[in-house]
Amino acid sequence: MTETLCFRNIGELIQADATSQPDVRVRTNCALLVTGGRVDKILRESEVKPANRYTRVIDVKGRAVVPGFVDCHTHLVYGGERKDEMVDRVSGVSYLEILNKGGGIHDTVKATRQATEATLYDQAKRRMKRMMALGTTAFEIKSGYGLDLETETKMLKVGKRLRQALKVPVTLTYLGAHAIPRPMKRTQYVEFVLENLPKFRGLADGVDIFCEKNVFTVADLRLVFLQAKLLGFDLRAHVEELSHQGGSYEAARLGALSCDHLEYATPKDIQAMHAAGTVAVLMPGVTLFLGGTKQPLVHSMLDAGVTLALATDCNPGSCPTYNMQTVIYLAANMYRITPGQALAAATYGAAKALGHHREYGGLLPGQRADFNILKTGDHRDLVYYFGENFIDQTFVAGRRVKGGKDPAGF
Ligand code: NIG
Ligand code: FE
Repeated sequence: MTETLCFRNIGELIQADATSQPDVRVRTNCALLVTGGRVDKILRESEVKPANRYTRVIDVKGRAVVPGFVDCHTHLVYGGERKDEMVDRVSGVSYLEILNKGGGIHDTVKATRQATEATLYDQAKRRMKRMMALGTTAFEIKSGYGLDLETETKMLKVGKRLRQALKVPVTLTYLGAHAIPRPMKRTQYVEFVLENLPKFRGLADGVDIFCEKNVFTVADLRLVFLQAKLLGFDLRAHVEELSHQGGSYEAARLGALSCDHLEYATPKDIQAMHAAGTVAVLMPGVTLFLGGTKQPLVHSMLDAGVTLALATDCNPGSCPTYNMQTVIYLAANMYRITPGQALAAATYGAAKALGHHREYGGLLPGQRADFNILKTGDHRDLVYYFGENFIDQTFVAGRRVKGGKDPAGF
């Protein structure tokens, strides 16, 4: 018989879906039934039947239950670290200056090319376990530190193996157009990416491009996306991060699932994203870590009805963090959005950015039972007491993630 777990005495149960947007729905004093790894029903506490009617009853003791966090933009498979660069930036050298001098992403490319698949796998697995211990239950992972066929494939294979080993949803994205490998010319490298796109079918779910001054142009984005679309890939893009190029407008018009970063996006871009149903993936950790002062027009996005998502961007150059709780905290306080809006963006919004909002992210009946029991009964504590880890227990498809206090990941 299929087992039914009953999580009872839930102080606050948080759900999020299209109708709760841009906020969450809060239900109090209730119970959550999980059958076969999926959300079965939400009951009022008074409707809970005697314990022998369930396979197991878990007393949540008045704490809050929130959907598992969805980290919809990461570069968590990489070799090496970039602490020297962080020190350079503090003395005034910009992220793009470092990149254009052959450092930055290129340093990680060198280290990732040198690393064996086994090393990349072990390191990335530790990182993911750490992320899960901090409440993340679904991931997106990009390639982009190979810029050649062999290494890009190696990175995506690692992602695929991680999906199998950790039994969590992992969306894989081919980010060949992340930087221009020296000594190639931009146009020559874009040709290379276009020619090789078909080889990533079956390995990657989506295609991404870094559209930025002195990196890839809007015209490159159009070429890559048109080809990727024909091949059936989902589209997502790094756009308007350090300057305005107009990539988000173009990406939205081509039907991108998400536009990511968006610090320099304009009202016209936001309108295009709304018209196309493109999700805005915001990563306040990047602004914080790179010392940026420009923030996205988050309230214009909300007013326009664009779905917001949050992600870590976990990578060694612009945001070395594993922690979606930190991102939720930063988003609420930097963008002046409510705790519910930040939480909805980190769950439902992020799942929608991956095209999986029907499957997970909302803690709705029928969805995967991926959720966190917090140490507190009030979800607003996530954006109030900062620097805490509020995760008491994490469940993936109704199973408790073991060793929650798990590996450092460093
Ligand atoms: O999302 N902007 C481009 N790519 C990443 C950073 C990658 C890196 O610096 O290693 C980002 O910020
Ligand atoms: Fe990124």
